[in-house]
Amino acid sequence: QFTPRVFSGAQPSGNLHLGNYLGALRNWVGMQGADYETIYCMVDLHAITVWQDPSELRKATRELCAGYIASGLDPDKSILFNQSQVPEHAQLAWIFNCVARMGWMQRMTQFKDKAGKNAQNASLGLFAYPALMAADILIYHATHVPVGDDQKQHLELTRDIATKFNHDFGVDFFPLTEPVIQGVAARVMSLRDGSKKMSKSDPSDMSRINMTDDADTISKKIRKAKTDPEALPSETDGLEDRPEARNLVNIYAALSDQSAEQVLAEVGGKQFGEFKPMLADLAVSKLSPISTEMARLMGEEAEIDRILARGAEKARAIATPILQQTYEIVGM
Ligand code: ADP
Ligand code: NA
Repeated sequence: QFTPRVFSGAQPSGNLHLGNYLGALRNWVGMQGADYETIYCMVDLHAITVWQDPSELRKATRELCAGYIASGLDPDKSILFNQSQVPEHAQLAWIFNCVARMGWMQRMTQFKDKAGKNAQNASLGLFAYPALMAADILIYHATHVPVGDDQKQHLELTRDIATKFNHDFGVDFFPLTEPVIQGVAARVMSLRDGSKKMSKSDPSDMSRINMTDDADTISKKIRKAKTDPEALPSETDGLEDRPEARNLVNIYAALSDQSAEQVLAEVGGKQFGEFKPMLADLAVSKLSPISTEMARLMGEEAEIDRILARGAEKARAIATPILQQTYEIVGM
């Protein structure tokens, strides 16, 4: 009954990084033009749930668009647009604020992580973020969402909202969106702390590999990555209590399109002094063409703005009738 349709997005809240590339962008490119209609958003409304400097936000939005395209997303094959240019997201989000229950929202672990100890001082938007994310997905009746580990709980909430809406109004209107399971790099961890994910929302983490980093910077960050004194094991069992080692092996695996087992069969027994330069060379060879293309596109602001405007138009063509029907169902 529902058109196979993929929706995903990233926040223009700072630099795109290796985690975004391996955990998201690369997979988005893989879904493009095959069995799905693909819609990829720059979620600026999500970004402002925490403070954003206005001129930085504007620049970050264009840079994110450049990152999408440089990674292989094609504005002729996918709808690429900026969330605030399609007002239906915010309009549906309000309806969902009235469907979602306080108790559901209070269970969201990302809010607890992001708000930290001072939750009373967090924005109401940060708390309501998952209802907006549900609207982002369901305003297109998206059937599939490729998400990293960090977003799984939010996708479950999206399904809960769809279920409750359908039930409350006695309709079968919103689909129960399926997560798309990712490979080894579903979660790229910080290079200085294997227990934290690599994230653009942690400005203090200087170890993060940004997609705009040059070859020297990438190599330096990998050389400095936290590790332990032991050699690499030859099987994945040996990585169990070694989060930093596991992370570097997973990154190598993802960049070389192999499994962690295959990588260890090749590098097991090597010391990090030998493995890190191999990883650095691999990362540079994969990322530097992308950063070069991003830099080129960033010199073409007007072109980026045209792509975003065209994307918003295509997105609205899908979103407008779905919002209208939603209003009718609700009695508005
Ligand atoms: P960030 O958490 O860095 O602010 P976003 O929230 O904008 O990034 O996430 C954009 C996409 O990138 C999402 O699909 C998210 O699951 C994915 N992602 C973010 N960080 C990582 C990571 N460290 N490893 C794997 N995927 C990630
Ligand atoms: Na995130």
